[in-house]
Amino acid sequence: MVAMQRAGEQVSGTGPAARYAAAVPRYTSYPTAPHFHTGVTGETFRGWLAETGQGDDLSLYVHIPFCDRLCWFCACHTKMTRRYEPVAAFLDALFCEIRTVGGILKGRGRVRALHFGGGSPTMLRADDIVRLGSALKTAFNFADNAEISVELDPNDMDEARFDALAEIGMTRASLGVQDFDPQVQKAINREQTFEQTKAVVDGVRARGVRSVNLDLLYGLPHQTCESVADTIRQALTLSPDRIAIFGYAHVRGSRSTRP
Ligand SMILES: C[S@@+](CC[C@H](N)C(=O)[O-])C[C@H]1O[C@@H](n2cnc3c(N)ncnc32)[C@H](O)[C@@H]1O
Ligand code: SF4
Repeated sequence: MVAMQRAGEQVSGTGPAARYAAAVPRYTSYPTAPHFHTGVTGETFRGWLAETGQGDDLSLYVHIPFCDRLCWFCACHTKMTRRYEPVAAFLDALFCEIRTVGGILKGRGRVRALHFGGGSPTMLRADDIVRLGSALKTAFNFADNAEISVELDPNDMDEARFDALAEIGMTRASLGVQDFDPQVQKAINREQTFEQTKAVVDGVRARGVRSVNLDLLYGLPHQTCESVADTIRQALTLSPDRIAIFGYAHVRGSRSTRP
């Protein structure tokens, strides 16, 4: 399936092209940004948790707001760090939050979906990925067939991380690609060969992941309609289960305000 986000373009008819043609918020976070506002306080959240019933379905989203390099197009909530100390400090707070939320739920609700996004969850060390997975499984009641999806930066991946993600039960992998053209990649500070991407697709599939998504972007420097089509053609040779094609969203100052 190809999921597309378009900026206001109208497609007529009733087929999939029409169904997916509506302009939607960029969904790299959930709930999407427009749903967050100052009226949602800690008390509101505690109230929602308290109302959760035994059989209610839950989805969990874990955001890792760090990357070891910054791509110049990126509008995600992240911070670059080459040191692991800030990541370790963040993890301490995250484990505390997992215990707190799990403690309020007391086993009520059943987790059907867990998504790790960022930033780059693959910045975590392999042992921390495993610790995080087991902390979540201890604190929450997971459905046997829960979907566990992870955003992977192919540049981060090594054997230990592949194995750690398999150990926590990853069922879906979403790889950031953006564009395969080296000139475009250089302009956006995101150098990543086709072979690197392919190795990660092969690596997750070898560990039983059935659903692979590739993120692509249009609206970047040096791109043309033909070059974007070339990237899509190359992406299709990897037989992804899904391609997300984002229109570049220019977020002023997003990179300059974050160290
Ligand atoms: C958190 S990143 C993906 C995981 C990992 N950090 C990586 O880059 O491979 C989420 C995705 O959001 C998209 N994205 C980031 N900044 C964007 C922007 N300014 N406009 C549109 N899409 C953007 C990119 O396609 C990117 O792969
Ligand atoms: S695209 Fe991914 S790796 Fe690049 S800065 Fe954004 S979150 Fe980090």
